[in-house]
Amino acid sequence: MNRKVHIKTYGCQMNEHDTQRMVDMLREEGYTPTDLIEEAGLILVNTCSVRANPENKVYSFLGALRPQKARSPELIVGVAGCVAQQVGESLLAREPLVDFVFGPDNLFRLPEMIEVARQGERRCWTDWQPWEGPVKEFVPEEWVEQGHVEGFKAYIAITKGCNNYCSYCIVPHTRGREVSRSSESILREAQGMIERGAKELWLLGQNVNSYAASPDYGFYELLEELSQLEGLLRLRFTSPHPRDWHNRLADLMAASPVICKHVHLPFQAGSDAVLKVMGRRHSRQDYLDKVRYLRQRIPQVEISTDLIVGFPGETEEDFQQTLDIVEEVRFSQVFPFKYSVRPGTKAAELPDDVLREEKESRLARIIALQDSINEAAQEALIGTEQSVLIDGPHPRIAGRWNGRTDGYRAMTVLADKLQPGELVMARVMSARGHWLQGEVLTADS
Ligand code: 5AD
Ligand code: SF4
Repeated sequence: MNRKVHIKTYGCQMNEHDTQRMVDMLREEGYTPTDLIEEAGLILVNTCSVRANPENKVYSFLGALRPQKARSPELIVGVAGCVAQQVGESLLAREPLVDFVFGPDNLFRLPEMIEVARQGERRCWTDWQPWEGPVKEFVPEEWVEQGHVEGFKAYIAITKGCNNYCSYCIVPHTRGREVSRSSESILREAQGMIERGAKELWLLGQNVNSYAASPDYGFYELLEELSQLEGLLRLRFTSPHPRDWHNRLADLMAASPVICKHVHLPFQAGSDAVLKVMGRRHSRQDYLDKVRYLRQRIPQVEISTDLIVGFPGETEEDFQQTLDIVEEVRFSQVFPFKYSVRPGTKAAELPDDVLREEKESRLARIIALQDSINEAAQEALIGTEQSVLIDGPHPRIAGRWNGRTDGYRAMTVLADKLQPGELVMARVMSARGHWLQGEVLTADS
């Protein structure tokens, strides 16, 4: 039996993390991952349905597999993730080459699903698991104990699902109700990962800062405990929701050398009228007040964001208020998206009334503004000292090493020999596009 597996992953870090878990499980079953799709006996595609664009990519990906499946009928193809959860059974009807379909909640049953597929049964595994109530540990004990650490960065899912139901968003429909793991399990997983080589931990959750193990143990308490773990160099988290962002989190970040000075805080829209229809439950002013406090406590903090242009009913004046926030906050990165109707969401009932050309023009205006802001911000960093965690060698230029600053800017440094996972101090000498370039500072420089 061909036990080479190829996994194609779309979407967010949670999906990447789910893929890593699938790889772990499959290794246990004797599979080895391969980048070469043609040599795989098992192909999995971990899908994203957040917008029409990533969803459509899945169908093209599956279409392109047809010749391979025709050549090797024993090839097994599974579709995972958010599209799978949402579309379910009908994916099997639409794509005859698909052997099984499963949502994020069924991930841990992968070996069983493959076995059923090998026996020739085409099946859809999208039932919700009973994690709610007293059963909160959605991460199986063997992963807590020995989850694989790839390199020096490791993801930890602290919550799953989402209770926010922002009107445009498919996630609560594909990942279910929000569940928080116990802090005991998370701390044990983190400790083990550090022992197995992790230096940078990323806490993941659809709405990471609504984590609540109990009424008096929330995201703040968890972050504080994790930041004190011996051997951990950096602690990051994504994505917090502005509504659940409290100023004391900024105080904690300011006081901790380990918690990175970067917050990805999506604001989605600048106008209160649009925010209301989006169901965001925070106002423009709430957002700006929280950002102002963050900057006051941590002057060097980097803030990045997501926003949507062309939401139903968004007028030019509404959009101007989005531009104003981009102008005022001076984000380190902005991820702007054109509104995309997601069937099954509340916003899908509203007319998608901003013309495509208008959405494109608004997107282009955001990008142009952010590019100029970023250029100035990168220039302003020239001459500063930054701590850089090295990812690895530059792919083409010898003697250059790529990494990330504490604020999550991409930086390349000159040095003879460094190690991935090494933390160095470097001085920024120049800036080009999204990259800072610098020199490593030795102890006496
Ligand atoms: N249309 C466009 N963008 C969306 N996002 C989520 N749902 C939609 C949608 N229906 C964006 C939001 C979110 C990011 C992950 O994707 O900005 O923060
Ligand atoms: Fe895409 Fe959202 Fe699912 Fe992540 S949770 S894979 S962003 S739809």
